[in-house]
Amino acid sequence: MSHYQNTYRRSLDQRDAYWAEQAAQLHWDRPWDRVLDDSRPPFYRWFPGGRLNTCYNALDRHVDGGRAEQAALIYDSPLAGVVKSYSYRELRDAVALFAGALRQQGVQTGDRVVIYMPMVPEAAIAMLACARLGAVHSVVFGGFAAPELAKRIDDAQPVLIVSASCGLEPGRTIAYKPLLDQAIELSTHKPSRCIVLQRPQCAASLIAGRDVDWQAALASATPADCVSVAATDPLYVLYTSGTTGKPKGVVRDHGGHAVSLVHSMNVVYDTQPGEVFWAASDVGWVVGHAYIVYAPLLQGCTTVMYEGKPVGTPDAGAFWRVIAQHRVKTFFTAPTAFRAIKKEDPQGELLKQYDLSAFKALYLAGERSDPDTIRWAQQLLKVPVVDNWWQTELGWPAIANCRGVEEKPVKPGSASVAVPGYDIRVLDAEGGELDAGEIGNLAIKLPLPPGTLPTLWNNEAGYRDTYLSRYPGYYLAGDAGYVDEDGYWWVMSRIDDIINVAGHRLSTGAMEEVLAGHPDVAECAVIGVADALKGQLPVGLVVLKAGVSRSPETVCKELVERVRQEIGAVAALKQVAVVARLPKTRSGKVLRATMRAIADGASYNAPATIDDPKTLEEIAAALHGLGYAGAKG
Ligand code: COA
Ligand code: AMP
Repeated sequence: MSHYQNTYRRSLDQRDAYWAEQAAQLHWDRPWDRVLDDSRPPFYRWFPGGRLNTCYNALDRHVDGGRAEQAALIYDSPLAGVVKSYSYRELRDAVALFAGALRQQGVQTGDRVVIYMPMVPEAAIAMLACARLGAVHSVVFGGFAAPELAKRIDDAQPVLIVSASCGLEPGRTIAYKPLLDQAIELSTHKPSRCIVLQRPQCAASLIAGRDVDWQAALASATPADCVSVAATDPLYVLYTSGTTGKPKGVVRDHGGHAVSLVHSMNVVYDTQPGEVFWAASDVGWVVGHAYIVYAPLLQGCTTVMYEGKPVGTPDAGAFWRVIAQHRVKTFFTAPTAFRAIKKEDPQGELLKQYDLSAFKALYLAGERSDPDTIRWAQQLLKVPVVDNWWQTELGWPAIANCRGVEEKPVKPGSASVAVPGYDIRVLDAEGGELDAGEIGNLAIKLPLPPGTLPTLWNNEAGYRDTYLSRYPGYYLAGDAGYVDEDGYWWVMSRIDDIINVAGHRLSTGAMEEVLAGHPDVAECAVIGVADALKGQLPVGLVVLKAGVSRSPETVCKELVERVRQEIGAVAALKQVAVVARLPKTRSGKVLRATMRAIADGASYNAPATIDDPKTLEEIAAALHGLGYAGAKG
């Protein structure tokens, strides 16, 4: 057996011993009673009885262990024109002081704190300060509009919200405070305090009695020590898109999370203490939680926090500049960022200006890596390019080339092999296991490894129904794919209404709810169509109510604006067409997959149960009008 095979088999066959060894790399205030509590399937808990503090393990442990003066976090913002480095000691002190401020403002262990912030170091400081107190953070991505923030406030019920005066996007400053105020107005639950970081680009007005300036909160605070919590206590809740407009609150525990992330740095990302790791994502996504904040710090690395874009800040050489300047060893981003660079600088001319001698590997995730992008990156950078598949729910990679164990040959288009800890299967509709090469539903045999979601926030029934009911004994991933004869996994598409736009996970169901709320709309469908840059883009098709006299153009413009206001700019719904009717089966099911195939110019067969085949021609014409549809029906 190869080294990878040995490690992989051991992770499943000697599961408890394998994970106990991984856990031994962290500092525990009290050891666990059992590695895995499997007394209540399908619900499992890792390291019950164990006590630890995630912030201690991410910061204090390294300060005490000789890394006090090593850079812990480098903030690099071409948008703000700032580069600032924090040593482990400086970051620990900043976090301890902000934790003291949170406590002074009433935050206690177990309380929730919503963090709605741009990519500034204070976002990471706020997250780690919550971890220090044993408070549960829930970070909301800055590209979400007020109603989305309100939904998360109502679900998480935070005692306090941490925010900033503004975020920076190329060419515009986004005032966060009015969005925060609007969200609190919309939400039923009201936090008692908001701490607001004033950025120099824009001043926020504070509401007396509720809002506290970040600096003022620090001025009256004393540093707080780490609070020891149970390994099974929640560290954070991160909301992610489901099939409806209600986001799902993925819960992450302390113990399993810390163990799994250190494991992933060794096994998957092959990055050791003292080395520089950069994930160009956002703290609002799971990649940002895991690989901007927690994993690099738990591993004693230097993490880079980048407030900028792959192109336009100032050019398509921005990534190479950051890699060279901070001597990044391991770089992680979404394939869409590479497609954006390739579009602007196809020959990679800008790369020639930089010394990338410290750079050893590129990791891509968040959406399928198309073979063209992989090959382009391989040829240009001359380092391994590693696709890795995972999800918010899992928290760390489940399929990857495990370079820390054994580097496998790359097959562009496949995310490679199962990561130790994950027993992945391909199942048919009835739950039968499919042979190599046959496409089916990806499912992971329970128990899931440490670090994966133990439940949904305040919604165990939702957790069971969404993920565990379809195939008893398995977790349903929501993706379709297959495994080949060599054990390589090919993840092809979602099996639900989730789409992936520029590496951002979005729900077409949520967008349909917004369109359907417009007074002129009778019914609607949103489909994800293929896009060369962003992977997918949402397109809306709406049927207007009888008697609507306003022009379709006006209504479509309002619908685009409505999605921007209700969900946020990140939804990127820019195209809507009015159609006379939607194609449906005789039982009334809207044929979204067929419309998607038409839009993508893929071949399709009209289902035998279609109500009226002519509707497909009408849809093809409408999509054609939007610039899509090679219609090969
Ligand atoms: N706060 C406020 N608005 C935001 C935002 C934030 N944090 N992030 C994005 N937006 C806005 C953008 O300004 C844009 O607004 P616009 O419609 O007015 O132009 C909109 O949301 C869509 O953003 P995005 O999908 O990011 O598109 P883009 O055209 O700005 O950039 C890429 C395209 C490919 C350069 C960009 O998506 C990118 O760098 N992606 C990397 C992938 C990534 O980070 N994935 C995260 C998971 S790993
Ligand atoms: P998120 O929860 O935002 O990380 O999105 C998870 C979803 O993104 C997965 O269920 C997949 O549909 C998709 N995805 C993420 N990474 C990959 C990948 N490497 N290959 C294919 N799809 C991916």
